[in-house]
This record gives sequence, structure tokens and C-alpha cells, in this order.
Amino acid sequence: MTLTRTRPADGLAWVTGASSGIGRELALQLARSGWRVAVTARRLEELQLLAKQAADEGHVILPFVGDVTDRAGMARLIEEIESQAPIALAVLNVGTFFPDDGAWFGDAFRKTFDVNLGGTLNGLEPLVPKMIARGRGQVAIMASVAGYAGLPRSIAYSSSKSALIVMAQAMRFMLEPRGVGVQVICPGFVETPLTDKNDFPMPFLIKVEDAARRICEGLVSDRFEIAFPRRMVWLLKAINLLPYRAYFWLVGRGTGQA
Ligand SMILES: NC(=O)c1ccc[n+]([C@@H]2O[C@H](COP(=O)([O-])OP(=O)(O)OC[C@H]3O[C@@H](n4cnc5c(N)ncnc54)[C@H](OP(=O)(O)O)[C@@H]3O)[C@@H](O)[C@H]2O)c1
Repeated sequence: MTLTRTRPADGLAWVTGASSGIGRELALQLARSGWRVAVTARRLEELQLLAKQAADEGHVILPFVGDVTDRAGMARLIEEIESQAPIALAVLNVGTFFPDDGAWFGDAFRKTFDVNLGGTLNGLEPLVPKMIARGRGQVAIMASVAGYAGLPRSIAYSSSKSALIVMAQAMRFMLEPRGVGVQVICPGFVETPLTDKNDFPMPFLIKVEDAARRICEGLVSDRFEIAFPRRMVWLLKAINLLPYRAYFWLVGRGTGQA
């Protein structure tokens, strides 16, 4: 199957969730590598600061405020961005995490799905048909290694990220032949405001600059999955192949949840 990878000459890069963490750093690194980058989040001031930082370095970042859970709003936002130039590369990065603390099927659970899964869908729905019509585009969906398997205190997060991984796999069959590349991003733990609030050990934690660099490298590669750090990725992939009795024992022991 031919792999579609876009270049700055094809149009804009669009990064959602770019007011902090991985999205912010990724937008900066893409801009430094020659992309004009449209960025989206709810906090305008943060996006404006990012745009100014890029402009001071001689690069272009264009802020567009939006809430990914607003389906109609996201469709309007994409029209607004595309009035500047077509979106060639979309990194649907927005995501949220609430540790499960007993009330796991309450509001936090639904919000996780609304943001992680619904928010990604609200970006794809209006954009992908445009890319198909142009016969060119590239979409990268932010999942997580937490989506490889059900992990303790992560019922909503693991299952929402798992759904995104499977969605990207299924999308690839339909979109690659139409000229639209599909990739999934599965980071391990990265130092960001999202993980700052975690009160549990985070093995193989990496810096946000390192994570964004690995994503940038992955976006121009022929890999479907951009996953890192390797030790975390292979550990979780291997554990997930075990029979369930061994899986539950090992993960429970390893996380102190047995
Ligand atoms: N950090 C990690 O260890 C790690 C590991 C694997 C995967 N990930 C994934 O990487 C992605 C980014 O995470 P991060 O660690 O960089 O988190 P972060 O620093 O909390 O950034 C989340 C971003 O999403 C935006 N956002 C949240 N809800 C939104 C909404 N409803 N509409 C629009 N924007 C919204 C936030 O901006 P506003 O608040 O301004 O809207 C912010 O820019 C997430 O999908 C996360 O699951 C992170």
C-alpha cells in the first residue's frame, strides 16, 4: 500500500490541543521545520503566546480558538482555517485524563470519552471528506500506550485510547488508497500539565521536547504507529500477549493494584 506523507508546500499543518504540553511543543517544532501551523485549544491567550514565540523566531503559527466537543463549532472552525489554506497535515492531539477514583462511570468517564473520542471525531468528520476530495492529506491521531490494554485506575482513559488506535487502524484501509495517510501516535509517559497531577510512579517518563521530536520524525516516516519510548511500548505490548490470568496478576502486582 502506498503511504501518503504531506509536505509544507501542500498546505497548513493543524494541531489540536496546542495551548500546552505535547501539542504546544509539536506545533513549535513543526513550524521550525517549515510548516505554517494552525493551532486550536480553548485558551486563546496561551495560543497567542505560542504564535508570538513562533513569530519571534521567524515562523508562522495561527491561533484558532475552539472546543473539540462542539461538533458544529469544529466544522465552522475547519472552514475558517481552510479559508487561509487547505489543511494538509492534521494532528488530532487533544485528550484528557482523570484517574479513576471510585466514581468511574460518572461525569469524568463521559467527559473522557467526549473529549478523547468525540473530540477526535469532531475534527475528522468535517476534514477527511475535504482531504479525500483533494486526493491528498495526512491525519495523525493521538492515542497512548495506555490504549494497548486495560490498566488500573484508567478505565475511561485506556478504553478511549484503545478505541482511537482501532479507529486509526480501520481508517487506514479506507483512506490510504484515496491519498490520505493515517497514523496513530502512542506515547508513554511525557512530562506535561496532564501528568503533573499524577500521584503514581511514571516509568520511563520523557521530556515534552523529546516527545515532540519523536512525533515530528514519525510524521515523515513510513510508520503507521509512532510509539515511544521503546522500552515502555514493548513492555506493554508483550504483557498484553499473555494469557489473562498472567496478565491480571502481573499488571496488578506491577502497579500495586493486586
Ligand atoms: N502526557 C502524557 O504522558 C501522554 C502520554 C500519552 C498520550 N498523551 C496524550 O497526548 C495528548 C496531549 O496531552 P498532554 O499531556 O500534552 O496534555 P495537556 O498539556 O493537558 O494538553 C491538553 C491540550 O488539550 C486541550 N484541550 C483539552 N480539552 C479541550 C477541549 N475540550 N477542546 C479543545 N482543546 C482542549 C488543552 O487546551 P485548553 O485547556 O486551552 O483547551 C491543551 O492544549 C492527549 O491526547 C493525551 O492523552 C499524553
